[in-house]
Amino acid sequence: MTLPNQRIQPLDVFAVNHCDQLRGQFTVPGDKSISHRSIIFGALAQGQTRVSGFLRSADCLATLRILQAMGVSITDAGDELMIDGVGLDGLQKPKQDLDCGNAGTAMRLLAGLLSAQTFDSTLVGDESLSNRPMNRVIKPLTAMGANIDADAGTAPLRFRPPTAGIQAIDYTSPVASAQVKSAVLIAGLYADGKTTVTEPQKSRDHTETMLRGMGCEVQVDGLTVGVTGRPILLAQNIQVPADISSAAFLMVLGLCHPDADFTIQNVSINPTRDGVIKILQAMGGNLELHDVREQAGEPVADIQVRSSQLRGIDIPHAWIPSAIDEFPIVFIAAAMASGQTTLTGAEELRHKESDRIQVMLDGLKLLGIDCQELPDGAVIHGGQLSSGLVDGHGDHRCAMSFLLAGALHPGLEIAVKGCHNIGTSFPEFFGLLESMGMVVEQPVPVITVDGPSGVGKGTISALLAEELGWHLLDSGAIYRSLALAAMQQAIAATDEAALVQLAESLELTFEVSDEMGTQACLNGVVVNDQLRSEACGLMASKVAPIAAVRAALLRRQKAFRRAPGLVADGRDMGTVVFKSAPVKLFLTADAAERAKRRHKQLQEQGVDVKIRDLLVDIEARDHRDSTRKVAPLVPAEDAWVIDTSDLSIDEVLAQVMQHLTPHLERWQANPSGLDC
Ligand code: DC
Repeated sequence: MTLPNQRIQPLDVFAVNHCDQLRGQFTVPGDKSISHRSIIFGALAQGQTRVSGFLRSADCLATLRILQAMGVSITDAGDELMIDGVGLDGLQKPKQDLDCGNAGTAMRLLAGLLSAQTFDSTLVGDESLSNRPMNRVIKPLTAMGANIDADAGTAPLRFRPPTAGIQAIDYTSPVASAQVKSAVLIAGLYADGKTTVTEPQKSRDHTETMLRGMGCEVQVDGLTVGVTGRPILLAQNIQVPADISSAAFLMVLGLCHPDADFTIQNVSINPTRDGVIKILQAMGGNLELHDVREQAGEPVADIQVRSSQLRGIDIPHAWIPSAIDEFPIVFIAAAMASGQTTLTGAEELRHKESDRIQVMLDGLKLLGIDCQELPDGAVIHGGQLSSGLVDGHGDHRCAMSFLLAGALHPGLEIAVKGCHNIGTSFPEFFGLLESMGMVVEQPVPVITVDGPSGVGKGTISALLAEELGWHLLDSGAIYRSLALAAMQQAIAATDEAALVQLAESLELTFEVSDEMGTQACLNGVVVNDQLRSEACGLMASKVAPIAAVRAALLRRQKAFRRAPGLVADGRDMGTVVFKSAPVKLFLTADAAERAKRRHKQLQEQGVDVKIRDLLVDIEARDHRDSTRKVAPLVPAEDAWVIDTSDLSIDEVLAQVMQHLTPHLERWQANPSGLDC
């Protein structure tokens, strides 16, 4: 059997470690919404728009490249972008499809722009974006005269010039969405007369603010916003403030951390975006706004964050639109708060980069938090987070939220997979955390192989480790070594204190060579054969249930996790020792079959025993292993269980590889980690 390539590096699984104290002044990247708009409106203006603080994230760079592809000259001078505006009618037909990547804002806002052009164009996006609903913009834009083709209301979106031009409309939107509102208003720039959008609740207003700043006539009347078409937009200098959505991660980190007092500088606190501050303050969060001022029409402040005792609340519906992107991290705050937090009326969260209600609740449940999913929200009971591996499903905000949860307490180990999109909104995320004193780890991948003895896990583990070029941990050999040392020193299986002392001081090494395979050396002597004896196995099964013994051997086992990877074979590898392992296997087989296999093995070694005796012994040992109080032999919840009773080793390996291949390919495809 051929296995995928060797020396596989970990991808896309990260963890952030706790640090004792958080102090200082920190800056988070520029506002994503304002950055997108600065490029679009800068391109449509007359003259040169200069943008400082632009968020160089994958999402905003997608918008930038799309405008460049339509003939707009954009120069990057490091601390500033210079956009040479071409006016409303100066865009050129692009030579290729326009790729929005993961950016919903780019796709929806540009849909408004491309609807009104006199050339054909196509907007495409990545897999996640191609599944997000676009009918919410297609419908009003079509009513304005746009010609848009989209299968099933999702990207790719194909635009042809509007037959009779774009018409002004008065649109009542069923959702409070700044993207929908902006798409219609942008198309409205090309219509004669006034286009209005009325929303059920007020969504973020950066489009209105920037258009007004550039000289467009904008009217706001309650929940209705209108623009007068065919304006001449004038270039501006735009200073993009720090993104409150990125700052929200640090706010929750500081509030839930046991010793934090720091400031996040120059954060946009636009009232259409500050829901997260209101929610966290209502939960008892100690957030103070200093030096409130205005920057390019946008209110900004420095936000001081201090450790707080949060308590659960019912989140008022009125705050939802202005906190819509912050719910993943608010859910972490709720998990850390005392009491219950309830969110309803936020069905919109199911249509973000992922179904954020499901992704967050699945992760929280896995981390031991009691919570219930609602169709339009969640109920979260604050509790104690425990370690584990959670899946961010490629959603940047969910991934960052779980990563920070892992940094809230010492000893917590939360590994997060699906982190590859973090750069779409927060490219300096890891660097910033490191500058705050936290350690970012890209954990070494571990494959755990658990199960009772005689199921073939030793053979499978050794084959996997050899083929992958990874390290191998035979944890049973550690318990057996302790048992052997105890027997050598006449320590009884009941003498807990002496066993613990022995476990801590055990001189045990595993030496690997091509000729000899793995050799276990106890006090410098190779003991492979003694370890496999029945007497040693029996003694091991007696000392293994002792909690203090297991604790004493834990660190020794964890130390086997070294790059490029580890295959860990045992009973509690996936449930206790490597709870955050990205791949867990559990092998079983019925006891009679295992007795037969063991009998054959012993006969080959010239040992004569009865199958019946072996069966009695195996059943007794299984019972002890699976019913003991500490680390009982059970499959991890996220383990893949294989019954090997009727399978040869080759067949088991084939099944294991089938399960493993997609993980290995992913690890291999992106050895350098974040691909953005
Ligand atoms: O897998 P084995 O037969 O070599 O294991 C020897 C004993 O050690 C067995 O009774 C179970 C125990 N053991 C354990 O409790 N936890 C492990 N991770 C590995 C083995």
